[in-house]
Amino acid sequence: MNLSTRDQQVIWHPYTQMQLSGPPIAIEKGEGVYLFDDTGKKYIDAVSSWWVNVHGHAHPYIAKKIAEQLLKLEQVIFAGFTHEPAIELAENLLRILPGNQSKIFYSDNGSTAVEVAVKMAIQYWGNKGLNRKKIISFEHAYHGDTFGAMSVSARSGFTQPFESLLFDVIHIPLPVKDQEQKTIQEFRQLVEDYKNEIAAFIFEPLVLGAGGMLIYEAAALNELMSICNKNSILTIADEVMTGFGRTGKYFACDYLDGQPDIICLSKGITGGTMPLGVTSCKEEVFNAFLSDDKAKTFFHGHSYTANPVACTAALASFDLLVQEDCLQNIRRIGDQHLSFIEKNKNNTLFNNLRSKGTILAMDIAVEGTTSYFNPLRDKLYQFFLNSGVLLRPLGNTVYVMPPYCISDDDLGFVYSVIEDVKTML
Ligand SMILES: Cc1ncc(COP(=O)(O)O)c(C=O)c1O
Repeated sequence: MNLSTRDQQVIWHPYTQMQLSGPPIAIEKGEGVYLFDDTGKKYIDAVSSWWVNVHGHAHPYIAKKIAEQLLKLEQVIFAGFTHEPAIELAENLLRILPGNQSKIFYSDNGSTAVEVAVKMAIQYWGNKGLNRKKIISFEHAYHGDTFGAMSVSARSGFTQPFESLLFDVIHIPLPVKDQEQKTIQEFRQLVEDYKNEIAAFIFEPLVLGAGGMLIYEAAALNELMSICNKNSILTIADEVMTGFGRTGKYFACDYLDGQPDIICLSKGITGGTMPLGVTSCKEEVFNAFLSDDKAKTFFHGHSYTANPVACTAALASFDLLVQEDCLQNIRRIGDQHLSFIEKNKNNTLFNNLRSKGTILAMDIAVEGTTSYFNPLRDKLYQFFLNSGVLLRPLGNTVYVMPPYCISDDDLGFVYSVIEDVKTML
């Protein structure tokens, strides 16, 4: 029996309708941007394996560091104990994060990084004796799949079965082009209406990922954040997808005038090798939890909090990220994406061509609405795989988010496969 068949007997896959989807592709090895299945077929991983891989698969430097760490210390409880990889990683992160960030709280994935941020924000106010519990977030936002992360996400097909159980969140429209002032006005009004009730505003800075790779401008976010600052509303930047170079700078927040109070990180933090989540915060947030009263403790932790192997992987990935050739690759991919947009600006196959740094997205012009459940999605997915490219369209929205080591030739091939979509429509 081959791997795919054995899999189907025992495994339930994420985001997969198990009745409709065919057997999964069994991947035997990865190397750079390539994945190889058990028949030897090669795929270009043009979505960085769900946006985590930044330096390519099975990177020898990260693998070596992980192997060394495994023989030294694989795991230790992180309450009352610490270790060098966690400390050094925190020091490194604080060196490149916005300057107001001062403490690092570890968890183990993007959803938990968000849960931690939201709990931190609500308890921050509680510890001060204030009842501020309302959260504001964007329509189309995606912050993860645990209950708190779902609550602060948009209401969508993903959250529909749980809707009555999610806590109330105020959603504001995305300040997309020409809608900026409308959103800002609405936001101002909300702040007025719910004076002293709003705990935090959580947002994916500049690019909303799973909501459809929607891009908006820094200027609008600057204004929203400035309203928050004036009204003592905590700002939470969810950089789980945008962090570590994705948008062309280390963090999307680097495009902003202001600095968020809390930042969520995961995905690319370990170069895509190990699960790790980080929630960083400014000193003032941390200080609100300091007390002789134990009830003001932040009672949150996971068994694998700050796992030393994951922290070591993150340290190795950090070493690679800050090298000039990596930063150059990030710029190179960004430039290639812009050239693709220029070349295709009159191509009637595509609507709303857009990019930010290493992220390129477009909507395939088809009848029906642009949505996650557009039936074209499965055909596109299969067409790309048959062509040897792993792309995972969000409905009829196709996006490219490659590891930074992708060559110009491979990127050109990915573009040509996307242009070839016209042959299958
Ligand atoms: C912006 C954002 N936040 C949070 C998450 C959740 O991360 P994870 O899948 O690691 O739980 C994601 C995942 O796609 C994301 O894009």
